[in-house]
Amino acid sequence: MEHNIKKRSSFSGGIGFVLAAAGSAVGLGNLWRFPYLAAQYGGGIFILVYIILALTFGFALMSTEIAIGRKTKQSPGLAYKTLHKKFGFLGYLAALVPIIILPYYCVIGGWVVKYMVTFVSGQGLSAAEDTFFPTFIGDTGSPLIYYAIFLGFTAIIILLGVNKGIEKISKFLMPLLLLLSVVIVIYVFTLPNAAEGIKYYLLPDFSKFSVMTVCAAMGQMFFSMSLAMGIMITYGSYSRNDVNLTKSVNQIEIFDTIVALLSGFMVVPAVYIFSGEAGTKASGAGLMFVTLPKVFEQMNGGVFIGALFFVLVFLAALTSSISVMEAIVSSFMDRFKLSRTKSSVICLIICVAMGIPSSLGNGIWSHIKLLGMDFLTFFDYLSNSLLMPFVALCTTILVGWIVGPDVVTDEITKNGEKMGRKKLYRIMVRYVAPILLVIILISYSLAQFGIITM
Ligand code: TRP
Repeated sequence: MEHNIKKRSSFSGGIGFVLAAAGSAVGLGNLWRFPYLAAQYGGGIFILVYIILALTFGFALMSTEIAIGRKTKQSPGLAYKTLHKKFGFLGYLAALVPIIILPYYCVIGGWVVKYMVTFVSGQGLSAAEDTFFPTFIGDTGSPLIYYAIFLGFTAIIILLGVNKGIEKISKFLMPLLLLLSVVIVIYVFTLPNAAEGIKYYLLPDFSKFSVMTVCAAMGQMFFSMSLAMGIMITYGSYSRNDVNLTKSVNQIEIFDTIVALLSGFMVVPAVYIFSGEAGTKASGAGLMFVTLPKVFEQMNGGVFIGALFFVLVFLAALTSSISVMEAIVSSFMDRFKLSRTKSSVICLIICVAMGIPSSLGNGIWSHIKLLGMDFLTFFDYLSNSLLMPFVALCTTILVGWIVGPDVVTDEITKNGEKMGRKKLYRIMVRYVAPILLVIILISYSLAQFGIITM
């Protein structure tokens, strides 16, 4: 990301840095992925595990990445190498994650475009029918067209280099998304039997706890907070030395988690009310698309609110897909010394090659399974459950045991900043995080191959 070095000091200070990092963090991970995982993994217990992980593990990993970035002032590939010459490979591994994520991210982005178009053209009520979603994603041509539209938008913005403009617009529109979410949540609270649904969403039921809950929550945390893929190193490298790092990490985490919890509130209690506990698991990755139209159907002016909502979700998804693609394109430019256009074209080709199976895997290619999963689920699994925990594990070994946690804590405290959770940090990177990650990687893989059941 050498071409970005000019920009390295461009964050205007603490708040500019936090907004940029939070803007990258908030996206489909919060709006689409978090609610369906929460529904699938037992509601309250998932939320509890997620919050505990975010406060301990997420805090440690995000501080580490931002501090490494700020200390080395390098892109991820070079940053790891600067810390230790044998760890340059981590930069490559981390750079692989966005390449796996972008294609299926754009497939889901395409679904959002479909819903946006349906609601904006006044057809919102038809989306509330049970058959609407499965028929749409099971089709061959139509989801591919919407996928192409979403990917096209992303690519054009990257090629024209106008992403800064989009970011400015979205900074202004994201609070609106937040406000609208609050309105929808309040409405969900007024539905009959709302209390039951809210209970399912918030009250942890410890009998539903399993290693899978931790695996899912951990993968979700990586995805949602853009961790273990070099992104936060890049952001750290742009941040100024006088930025209070711990405070920024807290703010980014709190903001990202609040948006996720709110999205869960819109979807999980409602699905519980409409279709009971079985319903919370039945729709899987399509939960948001199945449940929200039903909520809008019940609301006064629901078609209008639905239209506004999906436009805003579209923008949130677009700003994230732009930064994922930007991460890929700039690492191609760095590594292979290619022009922006050439890098973008290569990225597009990869994206089309991997995105088409991700889309068709819900329809005519649904008989093809990789480790028992359709393509989209497989790519999601590969990145969030294997690659990212592995990158995180290597990072904690590097920082905890090889260069030592002082590298990070010194970087954080070098301008007199107090690090409140310094002890916790040291214990996290040296012991808790690596052990937890090893357990997760092993048990998840064993379960995937059917050797153990969880
Ligand atoms: N964190 C983003 C979300 O919640 C998704 C994401 C994954 C991302 N990798 C990224 C965003 C890289 C920006 C850059 O939707």
